[in-house]
Amino acid sequence: MDAIRVRGGKPLRGKVRISGAKNAALPILCATLLSDGESRLRNVPKLRDIDTTAALLRFLGRDVQVDAPEVTVAAGSTVKPEAPYELVKQMRASVLVLGPLVARFGRAKVSLPGGCAIGARPIDQHLKGLQAMGCKITLERGYVIAEGPGGGGRLRGAEVMFDVPTVTGTENLMMAAALASGRTTLVNCAREPEVEELGRILNKMGAVVDGAGTDVMHIKGADRGELAPFDHAIIPDRIEAGTYMAAIAASGGDAIVEGVELDDLEAVMVKLRQAGVEVTSEGQNVRIRREGPLRPINITTAPHPGFPTDMQAQMLALMCLAKGESVITETIFENRLMHVPELQRMGASCVIRGNTAVVQGVDKLYGASVMATDLRASASLIIAGLAADEETEVRRVYHLDRGYERIEEKLIGLGADVARVKGADA
Ligand code: EPZ
Repeated sequence: MDAIRVRGGKPLRGKVRISGAKNAALPILCATLLSDGESRLRNVPKLRDIDTTAALLRFLGRDVQVDAPEVTVAAGSTVKPEAPYELVKQMRASVLVLGPLVARFGRAKVSLPGGCAIGARPIDQHLKGLQAMGCKITLERGYVIAEGPGGGGRLRGAEVMFDVPTVTGTENLMMAAALASGRTTLVNCAREPEVEELGRILNKMGAVVDGAGTDVMHIKGADRGELAPFDHAIIPDRIEAGTYMAAIAASGGDAIVEGVELDDLEAVMVKLRQAGVEVTSEGQNVRIRREGPLRPINITTAPHPGFPTDMQAQMLALMCLAKGESVITETIFENRLMHVPELQRMGASCVIRGNTAVVQGVDKLYGASVMATDLRASASLIIAGLAADEETEVRRVYHLDRGYERIEEKLIGLGADVARVKGADA
């Protein structure tokens, strides 16, 4: 397994350009199942999760060409509405083929995604919504088997109330509703920018989606059995952008993050400013500058537009260097503080109480060999390594490769002393 070696202590300077949003690309690639025409997606990041989604779509019978930053998807010669465990276990977001498959082909067999390092990750809300639309749902030997009304017929528009705002749950039901008969109302939807982006795509494809990005959505399904293909450049990745902002701040640097959708990052920029980081923007470029000491802040993660759970680990790493006590509470996932023990090995002073981390800032962090446990925890260890003196080796960086395009290249472009160590100890 690869590792990344970081020699810290250098303030980051220069510019870094943000890639397309992973969590927008994944549902949109699944939405191509709603059409047989050739769809083209632009500004797609070169990531493992994109390759996994492409492999899944090919397994389902699609013709997929990945030539990052472009991906084209068209109907192939066969259709096999089945997503096997071998593929779904690599990436939970594979569950996003469930809604489009059953809406388009009347049936789907998709492996239950199972949990992951950060939590149990149930999909009960996805299934409840599909049942409301007339789906017969059977759970069999680790698979979800979904069948349209009357043994594979067309889904019916319905009123669906989410018990909890779920990003992929909202996205699955949006895609199912896009081909359902009549109107669907989704209440208590996730409001993430990636959900709003999927709404744009479904409208381009011929569905009528009102309210994507708000907590209530009305969707009128198209009546011609399939939607039109699309050509679309996806939004920038707000979490990648926030990650580099935290890295520049942690290093005491002064650098520009280019190609950012500012509205998507309000919560992160507010918290960075509260921590004493200078955050100024011009168009879609954000300058991050931190000279003086970091101030401690409190963060509680929440569904968008609250503070994003996907930025919690990165900000916690930053707060390890603040002058005082920060309280960081994770409310979305039950096990998303695994970066704390690794940061403690670098000299961080942090105590976990339930789903809250109480961080006492320290004057410095020390380089160490640490273990990545999940995508965003990996990023937090890189950030800590950039601030630490000596050398940090972050192992199992396959986690990072899922969500950060060309991370070493981008960090080196900011003046960081980083390198990938091929085949390092696990
Ligand atoms: C999406 O995951 C993102 N993934 C995650 O990003 C992100 O952390 C998460 O949303 C929250 O913002 C993609 O978009 C591909 P949820 P998702 O359903 O949809 C509970 C990353 O780092 N829930 O919004 O799986 C669930 O347990 C990844 O890029 C149910 O109870 O998350 C959690 O507590 C990690 N029942 C909460 O809702 C359900 O049916 C939010 O989960 C579904 C979810």
